[in-house]
Amino acid sequence: MYLTKEEEAIYNGEHGPTLQKMMEILVALGDIYGADRLIPVKSAQIAGVSYKTIGDAGLEWIESLEGKAAVPAVLNPMGMDRDAWADMGIDRQFAEKQEQILKAYEKLGIKAECTCTPYYLERPKFGDHLAWSESSAVCYANSVLGARTNREGGPSALAAALVGKTANYGLHIRENRYPTVTVRVKEPIHGVEYGALGYVVGPRVGDGIPIFDLKGTPTEDELKHLGAALAASGSVALFHVLHVTPEQYILPPDRMEVERQELASEDDWEVPKRYFLPRNKIEVDMGGVRKLMGGQAEPDLIALGCPHASKEELEAILTALNGRHVKKEVWVCVGRSLGAKNKAIVDELRRHGIRVIYDTCMVVSPAASRFRRMMVNSGKALKYVPSMCGVDAVLGTTEECIEEACR
Ligand code: F3S
Repeated sequence: MYLTKEEEAIYNGEHGPTLQKMMEILVALGDIYGADRLIPVKSAQIAGVSYKTIGDAGLEWIESLEGKAAVPAVLNPMGMDRDAWADMGIDRQFAEKQEQILKAYEKLGIKAECTCTPYYLERPKFGDHLAWSESSAVCYANSVLGARTNREGGPSALAAALVGKTANYGLHIRENRYPTVTVRVKEPIHGVEYGALGYVVGPRVGDGIPIFDLKGTPTEDELKHLGAALAASGSVALFHVLHVTPEQYILPPDRMEVERQELASEDDWEVPKRYFLPRNKIEVDMGGVRKLMGGQAEPDLIALGCPHASKEELEAILTALNGRHVKKEVWVCVGRSLGAKNKAIVDELRRHGIRVIYDTCMVVSPAASRFRRMMVNSGKALKYVPSMCGVDAVLGTTEECIEEACR
C-alpha cells in the first residue's frame, strides 16, 4: 500500500507510539484487503465501549493510548445511562468501570456521545468517506445517505479517528457497491414489518448487497429498521431500494443494458428502465415474515429504540399512549443529544411512566438480563436480545407494544 511521506513517518514512530500503533492497524487492514492507499475520513464512530463487552483488558488498552482524534468521533452505546445508572439497576462497581472507559475515550478527544444513530448528530453527505463501527449505522450511512464506510471493528475505527484516515478498500470503492441480489416484495409493507423483512432476508443475502423492489415508499425510519435487521441477521453493510435510495445508477450504461435485455426474456419480471436489477433474485412471502410478529407475549419489559429512536419515533410513542400511563416497565433508548433537543417530548414520555434511557440500549446494558421476556418493535433487537441478554423476545408494532404496556 502506498504511504505518503507523512504517513510513513507516523508508521516509523516519529509521531509517538500511539499513532504508530494506529497506523500499523490501518496498514495491516489495507494489506489484507488490497487497499492502494489511505483516504481521509470525515468522522469515526467507535464500538467497544460497554464494560460488559470489553472488560478490564479493553479498558487497560484504551487507557494506554495517547493523543487526540484528528476528526469528529463519537462512541457506540455503552453499558448504562451515564446519569441514571442506579435507576436502571446497574451496580456501582460496573458503573465505575464504565465511567473509566468513557474518561479514557474523552482523553483521546472522542466525544462521550454514545449512540448507534450518529447520523442524527451530523448527517453525512453523499459520497463522504467514514469509519463507523456500529452495523446498523454503517448500513444506514451507506444505503440511505450514500456515504461510504466499511463495517469497522472498534480498534480500526479508533485508529481512523486518531489518524484521520482509513484504508481504501471494500465499500469505499464505487465498483464494490453494485447490487448482487434482487429482493422482490409483492405487497405493501409498513412500520415494524421492515425490521421483520430484514430479519428474514438477512441470512439469505449473507454479506451480499441486496436491491429491494418494494411496493410503496419506505420512510427513513423504516429503512433504518430494515438495514439494522439485515446487518444483524446477515452481514449486510449496504442495500439499495429501487426508486428510493440514492445509488441506483451505479452500473456503467453498457452493462446495465445487457442485464436489462437478459431480464426482459423473463416475462413474469417487470423490467425497470435505467435501473440495474441482478438476475439472482429472492421473492419474499410476507405471510411468512408476518408470522414473526404477535404470538404469546406477556412481556415484563417493553423496550423500544433499537436503533436509538428518532424524533418521529418518540412522537409516535406519545401518540400511541394517547394520554395513558404505562403499567409495565417500558424503556425507550435514545441518543443523549437527540433527547436533549427534544426535551419536551422526553419529559412528556417520562410523565407517562416511560423510562427514556440515554447512552445505552436493551442489548448492550447488563440491566436487561434480569427480565424474563422482552417485547420489541425492532427486527435487530428480536435477533440479539435472546443471544446477548439471555431473555426471550417477541416482536410487535409500536402501537402493540404500547397497548401491552398499558394493559
Ligand atoms: Fe443500537 Fe443497541 Fe440496537 S446499539 S442498534 S439499540 S442493539
